Amino acid sequence: MRILMVCLGNICRSPMADGWLRHRIQEKGLPIEVDSAGTANYHVGEQPDPRMRKFAKETGVSIDSLRARQFVVADFDSFDRIFVMDKSNLANVLRLARNEADKAKVALYLNELFPGEDREVPDPYYGNEHDFRHVIELLDTTTNAFLRNAGFNS
Ligand code: 4NP
Repeated sequence: MRILMVCLGNICRSPMADGWLRHRIQEKGLPIEVDSAGTANYHVGEQPDPRMRKFAKETGVSIDSLRARQFVVADFDSFDRIFVMDKSNLANVLRLARNEADKAKVALYLNELFPGEDREVPDPYYGNEHDFRHVIELLDTTTNAFLRNAGFNS
């Protein structure tokens, strides 16, 4: 199973979602591959935001090796599920879909934790330390929910 996490800049939310899933995959030896991308190109090639890297490390997850890239149409072919962090990401990715099969791969990540509620992972970029820690905790819980929903007992 191949999973892509998507946000706007690919330096805060989607690298952390990627980081948590990567962490669980290694811990449990799961047959899942994960990557992340941004709908925008502002930060292509950059490491995740230093604040996210610092707080991630405090929870035992290193996202230092990740580098931002932009979402491309070919990602619809490379991944089975494409999880977006907010409704703006959802609209941007769906706009690039070529057909119904592409569209069917895309979903709001928080619907794994709160089914049908269409909640969003808040963008912490202009926020404070509390906002970053909140996103990290939310993505941890959502990653565990995703693994349960996908049949990987956590
Ligand atoms: P992300 O956060 O989408 O979670 O990576 C952002 C990062 C950068 C910007 C916006 C959001 N930006 O405007 O540069």
